[in-house]
Amino acid sequence: MEAEFNTVAEWTALVAADLGPECYIPAACRGSGQPAALDWLLERLGPRPGEMMIDVGAGSGGPAAYAARRTGVQPVLAEPEPGACRAAARLFEAPVVQADAIALPFGDGTADLAWCLGVLCTAPGSAAQRAMLGQLRRVVRPGGRIGLLVYLAAVAELTDPPQGNHFPSSGELHGMFSQAGLEAVEVASTPDVAQPPPDWAGRLEIVERELHRRYGHTPQLIAADEQSRLFGRLLSSGQLTSQVILLRVAEPRDVGRHR
Ligand SMILES: C[S@@+](CC[C@H](N)C(=O)[O-])C[C@H]1O[C@@H](n2cnc3c(N)ncnc32)[C@H](O)[C@@H]1O
Repeated sequence: MEAEFNTVAEWTALVAADLGPECYIPAACRGSGQPAALDWLLERLGPRPGEMMIDVGAGSGGPAAYAARRTGVQPVLAEPEPGACRAAARLFEAPVVQADAIALPFGDGTADLAWCLGVLCTAPGSAAQRAMLGQLRRVVRPGGRIGLLVYLAAVAELTDPPQGNHFPSSGELHGMFSQAGLEAVEVASTPDVAQPPPDWAGRLEIVERELHRRYGHTPQLIAADEQSRLFGRLLSSGQLTSQVILLRVAEPRDVGRHR
């Protein structure tokens, strides 16, 4: 995962920077993939101009930049990989802190909203996933909103899963929400919302072609491609599914009901 989320993230940003601004956001949306999932979340999160939104596991900053352009929200990015942090700063001049989702460097209730896209399954297990959800809940103000994009195991044993990922089942994930004082308000499966428009797909293809022309021979890009291949195979076989989820942070008066 280090190759994929650090080195290749930075290389992708270098390529996009050379290709031009119209490539930046598609190149820098890695786990969230395409606009329909982001639009689904933004419509339900309802960010207002100037509100603070923390993007946890922000990668190279594409989803946060998309949200800022669509809604005027002010994103702050938290991302542990230095190459991805540099990519977000290079492409979007984004405010980014190098941080792990299980120890976010923000005070309680700092943000109006947050999202966390394609990140939960990269945690080393269910304890860390619970800790991530607990941190998301802590940094968003009571009554605030959180968006998730998650990959879920639809079978007990995945065949040849990508290295370093831990996919909860839907039941396990939804159990973690109530333990964390989070209420799932709305859920959709991402295949329902998932076709990138042709201009987005075309820009991504141009970036990928140039990335492979420059770096296709490197162990880092070969490893990242293999991770993507394994991921894609599990999704297309139905062993993995993905959901977009709107969560509400419980108000103090609600907390007793969730513990
Ligand atoms: C699939 S990428 C998604 C990136 C971004 N959210 C997007 O949708 O474009 C997963 C991201 O999670 C980050 N990540 C992995 N473990 C993390 C952790 N413990 N805390 C925060 N982020 C983490 C990775 O570095 C990577 O940038």
